[in-house]
Order: sequence, then C-alpha cells, then structure tokens
Amino acid sequence: MCSVVGYVGHRQSCSVVLEGLSRLEYRGYDSAGFACIDTRTQQLSCAKAVGKLSSLTQQLQQNPIDGSVGIGHTRWATHGVASQANAHPHFDCFKTLSVVHNGIIENYQALKAELESKGHVFVSATDSEVIAHLFEQSLVDHGHCISKATTALVSQLHGAYACIIVMQNQPDLLIAIRKSSPLCIGFGTQEMFIASDVLAFAGKTDKVAFLPEQTYAFVKQDSVSVYTFNNEPVALSLQKLDVAWLATDKAGYEHYMLKEIYEQKSAIYKTITAACQNEDSLWHFANDQAKSLSFADDKQLKSLKILGCGTSWHAGRIGEFFFEEVAGLPTTAALASEFRYRTFFPSKNTLYCAISQSGETADTLEAVRFLHGQGCATTTITNVASSTLVRECGRYFLTHAGPEMAVASTKAFTTQVAALYWLANRIAYEQGTVTLSGYNASNDALLMAGELLENGLETYRSYIFQTVAPAYAACEKFIFIGRHITYPFALEAALKLKEIAYIFSQAYPAGELKHGPLALIDEDTPVCVFSHPDPIMYQKILSNAQEIKARKGRVLAFVFEGQTELIQLADHVFVFPIVHPHLSVVVMTGVMQLLMYAIAKLRGCDIDRPRNLAKSVTVE
Ligand code: AGP
Repeated sequence: MCSVVGYVGHRQSCSVVLEGLSRLEYRGYDSAGFACIDTRTQQLSCAKAVGKLSSLTQQLQQNPIDGSVGIGHTRWATHGVASQANAHPHFDCFKTLSVVHNGIIENYQALKAELESKGHVFVSATDSEVIAHLFEQSLVDHGHCISKATTALVSQLHGAYACIIVMQNQPDLLIAIRKSSPLCIGFGTQEMFIASDVLAFAGKTDKVAFLPEQTYAFVKQDSVSVYTFNNEPVALSLQKLDVAWLATDKAGYEHYMLKEIYEQKSAIYKTITAACQNEDSLWHFANDQAKSLSFADDKQLKSLKILGCGTSWHAGRIGEFFFEEVAGLPTTAALASEFRYRTFFPSKNTLYCAISQSGETADTLEAVRFLHGQGCATTTITNVASSTLVRECGRYFLTHAGPEMAVASTKAFTTQVAALYWLANRIAYEQGTVTLSGYNASNDALLMAGELLENGLETYRSYIFQTVAPAYAACEKFIFIGRHITYPFALEAALKLKEIAYIFSQAYPAGELKHGPLALIDEDTPVCVFSHPDPIMYQKILSNAQEIKARKGRVLAFVFEGQTELIQLADHVFVFPIVHPHLSVVVMTGVMQLLMYAIAKLRGCDIDRPRNLAKSVTVE
C-alpha cells in the first residue's frame, strides 16, 4: 500500500528518501511527496506530485529542496482521490510539522470534527491529515512537551498506522510511530533510516530494528529511544540485515510481468532445491518459541488450515488437493480477510499456514494475530525473508521466486503451488504413506512440470499473440470453468484477466454452470474451459463445454493430449502433455498468464501497475 520513508543524518535527505521510495513504489503509485527542513531556509518545505514517483522526482529537479532531515511517501488512495491535496506529507495549520502515514485512521471523522470545532483547518479529504492536526493540538494541550503530546496522540488514534513526523522546531528529530502497520529503523553511522520495509535502505546499513507493536521512537542521527504507548522505555533489539537490494530491471523484456512469467521454471527449481537441501531441518525457526505442531514431525497433526488472499488464496485452494489426496490431511484454504469474522472452532491438532508473496498483507497478518490470540501455532509460506509474517509466525518456508515486481502475481503463484506440492509429499513421506522413491519421484515430476510450463510458452507464444489474444481482446466479459484442481486455477485465471486487462471475469466450477451461469452464455461471452487429465473428470468437462456450444457460446480450451472431442469442439485450443492431475495446473500456468498478458497489451493497459491496485496490500 502506501510506503513511508524517513532519513536523519549527515547526508542530504532528498536523494536517500527518493531512492527508498522508488524501491517501495510497488506498494502504491497514485501520488508521492517529500518534506524536509530545507537547509537554505530552515523552513519545513514540501513537494508533492500526482501520479508515479517519477513526477515528484522531476518536480524536485526543477525546484530543489533538501536538508538533513526528510520524510517521503508514495500513496495508494484509501480516503480521498489521488490529488495534490490528498498526497502526503500532511501538515498542521501553521505548517510547522509534517506527517507521512501508512494505514487507516478509523475514527478520523470524529477526530476531524472535534479539531475543526477547535479551529483547525483541513485541506485534504484524507484520514491521515488528522494526525498532523491532532499532534499540533496535543502539543498545545501538553505545553509543547513532545513525549506527552505523542502519548496523547496515540491514545486517540484508532486503526492501523505507521507514521513519521518531522517538526520545524526540532530539526534533528524524526518521530516514528507504529501500530499494526510495519515500520523499521536502519542504524547507520551518524545516520538513521526509517521505512515501511527494510528494502528501502538495504545496502546502506546492515543493522535494523523493527519497531515493536504499539511503540513510538524518537530518532536522531546518533540515537534512537523507543517507548510504549504508555510511555515506558523499550529496549530495541538490533538485528543483522541480510537483505540485499537487487536492482531488478526488465532484462530486455517489455514488462516485468513478461519477464516473471519466463522466470517460473527456474523459480520452481530454486524453491524445491532449497527445500530439499533443508530436509533435516525442514523448518526455519523464526523465533525461539517451541511450537507444539509442525508439518513434518508430528503424527498428531490432524488437519491443515491455509489462509491467504487473492492469488495466494488460489494457491492454497490448489494445495487443498495435494494435502488431502497425497498426505490424507483434511485441508481447507480460507480467505484471510474473512477468516477472523467467522466463528472459530479451536482444534489443537490443526496447523494454520498463512501464504503470502509479500509477507505483509494486512488481512493475512491480522488472521495470524487472531490465531496467536487463540493460542494456535502458525507457519507461513512466503517469498520475503525479511517480512512481518516471517517475524510473527512460529515457522516459515521460503519460496525462492526472487523479487516479483509486477503487481500481477505470476512466479510467486507457481512457487507457492510448488511449495505446497512439495510439502504434501514430504509430509506423506514422513508419515510413511509415501515411500522414499515415491517422494523423490514427486520432486522429479514437479521439476518436469516446470519444464513443461516453459515449453508451453515457446510452443504457443506466437499463436497467443497473433491469433488467440486478438480474437478475445475486445470482449468485455469472460467466464472461466474448471473442475477439481482446475477450478481454483480458473479462479486465478479470472483474477489475472480482471487485474491486468480490466475485463469482467467470473470463474465457476464447471458443474455449477447449469445451476445459473449458463444464462449468461452468448456469442459475446467467451468461456475458457480448463480441462483435467483424469478421464472421468474430462468427460464431465467435455459435457459442460458441449452445453456451452449448444447455446452458441465461444469456447477457448486448455486441454490435455488425447482429449480429441474437446480439441475439435473448441474455437481455440491449447494442448498440453498428460501429467499427474496435481501438476496439470503448473503445466498450464505459463500459457494462461501469457494469454492474459497479451490481451491486456492489446487493450493498452498499464500491465505492471494496473489502475487502482498496489503490490503489497498493507491495509485491511
Ligand atoms: C495477484 O495477482 C494479486 N496482485 C493479489 O491478489 C495478491 O496475490 C494478494 O494481494 C495477496 O498478496 P500476498 O501474496 O503478498 O499476500
């Protein structure tokens, strides 16, 4: 979502803050802003621009401001449109203090009304501006004592927030405040960095402290003092930052998404190789707490609950089939955003596994925190070693997709599916239901599926760009169907098309079509049919496709070798080698993603940064 970056130190802050923001721009790109105590004027000065960070950078090149203390922000709009006025930093009435904020202030309307009644004048429609005015008011109410004012501020804010405040009359100080949204501090020599994510300053220092939940910090270039919201001092634990900033470029590809589609075979390989190399210590312990259940070593494990959002949830839905059919472990994948609002039935033999590419998704994190509150063990499958989920879950499994820059998840999805497949087979082996040679064969089959994914890209690339995408790019709605494991895959395909091509898409289990959605079928509503390698499942899907054709529908089919009737019936078809049904989705993934990419390209969409979205969704 939004990202905040702050710097105080011996350098000028502008380039440091802008570089940090550019590394985190995937989180939000509606507008951006920078504020500092300008060295020339000693005044709090600010620049804001609507759109991507490059607009702000340009503006700052034309009208430079700079100083040794600075804060910056890239925004993903929640309250108020993307505009100059709504862009952060926000100010108090006299422009003597400025704040950048990630999160949501849930009670901002009540606070704003109260502050307005006291004479404060607001200039934006955001929830965040209330922080600046409330802090201004708190300073007045507490005789300009910064500690008391900060405590008063946080006692009144409801919601989630990571903010950084700079004050004109405190030119060597930044105030960092954290509740629910992550915030970390990088310790340099005579300089400190504050950011939503360590990536912002990776490479500039190797010492980091994660601000504990519900604390605030006074950060100067040579000292950091941290307090609880009750004003009690907190000792920060410094950690070694072993995250490198790998400046990723598009390596000659037109878009990151295209590059990432082509990286999938190698990402699967890296993920599985790393998992196999750690066989003796299957789980990396994120902290010292002994947990009662783990995937592999505990025969008491009776069920698995997977939690995730969007694509990660789809990977979890696919994983259900692996765990149930390979490891005999009842498994359900729940939407993290819904999970904690349902009745919770505690079970000490259930393991909860949060899946998240970023490890920062607020809905998933809150589900994990809810589970911890219930005394449940959690583990996470994530792509980011330095993420909050890794720090907060008892155990973690890292996928090795490498940085995923496009908003649309591609290689993260395949590595999540690969990780789940590997884990299911590993558990089955540990529990004695799969032999060692069976387990080894499953690893080989998975790597082969990665190979077939890549072959599919080569085989169908020109057919996609020259024939299939042009045939469907003008459609304004799309239906996807699948059965068994290809149904959650259909959900993922529909999400990809919505997200990057802005085409309304809906996925159904193929058998559900006749219970209502068939009414939607006409020449203008194509149906993408994901077949299944299993002969019984195939016959059912074939019947569903025939029902569509009988209603003059257009069928675009993903089928397996030998499924002649469906091949002949379809208007356009992709044929894949027969593999184990569990791996069928991996084999189809590349072609599915490339097709969505090609359609989005023909429609002229901003593929890597689709409108209204952000890569990392850090608000609920
Ligand atoms: C995928 O293409 C989406 N951008 C989105 O659904 C994403 O998977 C979801 O927001 C969850 O993100 P996470 O994996 O980082 O938790």
